[in-house]
Amino acid sequence: MTAAAFDFASLLPAGLPPPAAKWTGLAKYSFVGGNIDPEQVPVDGLIDAVGAVLRREGKALATYNVAHGPQGYWPLREFLTAKLKRDAGIVSTVDDILIVSGSLQALDLVNQTLLARGDTVIVEQETYQGSLTRLSRLGVNVIGVPLDRDGMRMDALASALADLKMRGIRPKYIYTIPTVQNPTGTILPEARRAEMLNLASEYAVPIFEDDCYADLIWDGKRRPPAIYAMAGNGDVIHIGSFSKTIAPALRVGFVVAPWAMMSRMLALKTDAGSGSLEQMVLAEYCTPHFNTHVPELTHALRGKLGTMMEALNEQFGTSAEFEEPKGGIFLWVKLPDNVDTLKLYQSALAAGVSINPGPEWSTSKAHSGNRLRLCFASPSHQQIREGIAVLADVCRREFGVPVRIANVEKRARG
Ligand SMILES: Cc1ncc(COP(=O)(O)O)c(C=O)c1O
Repeated sequence: MTAAAFDFASLLPAGLPPPAAKWTGLAKYSFVGGNIDPEQVPVDGLIDAVGAVLRREGKALATYNVAHGPQGYWPLREFLTAKLKRDAGIVSTVDDILIVSGSLQALDLVNQTLLARGDTVIVEQETYQGSLTRLSRLGVNVIGVPLDRDGMRMDALASALADLKMRGIRPKYIYTIPTVQNPTGTILPEARRAEMLNLASEYAVPIFEDDCYADLIWDGKRRPPAIYAMAGNGDVIHIGSFSKTIAPALRVGFVVAPWAMMSRMLALKTDAGSGSLEQMVLAEYCTPHFNTHVPELTHALRGKLGTMMEALNEQFGTSAEFEEPKGGIFLWVKLPDNVDTLKLYQSALAAGVSINPGPEWSTSKAHSGNRLRLCFASPSHQQIREGIAVLADVCRREFGVPVRIANVEKRARG
């Protein structure tokens, strides 16, 4: 027997976001989202870690936060303080770190702490869709600063800040993804980080640094120090995640912030703590294995990027333009001007290929209308080759480009 539909609609308060659509599954060729390579999830290591930590400390799960307090499992925070010092130059103690349910929860906590409707924030012109949708839902004005091959342009940031000041507006923060930017894959050099800090301090605006791809740099090249590490006066909030290095479905991220922010965010984190078992397993696995796991992971990702770039060159020829990213899991691609990637998204989906259309990842619809973001981490090499061929066919059918039918040529040759 099915219950009669109750009229919830009449009870809903004003200002709710539109209702969510039902999950319909992933496309056959999925190049969307921040999913990672299934082959690189360290399953055996995680199995050992679960067994070991449960045998040793399992009974502690009887207490919320396993009695380690609302900032999270102590050994995971200890792992992070050592890792952040070694890799990003961040000097912190376990008290500076808050474990959250994915860095998305960090975005929400920072936003809830600092933002009110009508406020202004500065972001990179191309940026993370999850940040843009949150800001638009909050009714915040978003100013996009253009990027070049080295990330956010400091001349453009300086003009944006000066312009806002002239209009009597003090932005609430500068949000940046400086180390392997999403979606462009750029890395902000140390000198620009210093410039950003100078500008931030001149205009008294904090920096919100999202470093979730920072471990995924090709060939283990040394990354520049985190902006948080370079700041002198506690005006940077730093967030990171285990989603891209271990597994996004674990939902474990972290915030490093001065107590003035931390204490406010803790007051807003009303979920009685993020899941302790995930944190325990991560600490158990990462403390001995993270440093050997990451080079294997980036090696595999670099291989998939190679396949993706090859497939695009083969199928799209000169119609697809892109800069090789310095790490990460995404390729940001420019198609000819007449291609509308919002429309391409619809037609490609009908053919079993999902892509992220550029306008959803940008504050400039004009600049991003013919661009798209492709995730090369989660599909297999074969899916990348097949999916890009289908995408090229759809694009040709809808927009007349690419003109050259590379796969037909290849078949004729072979
Ligand atoms: C730039 C950026 N920040 C934050 C997140 C959120 O990640 P998670 O909540 O899985 O840690 C993502 C996910 O793709 C991202 O790309």
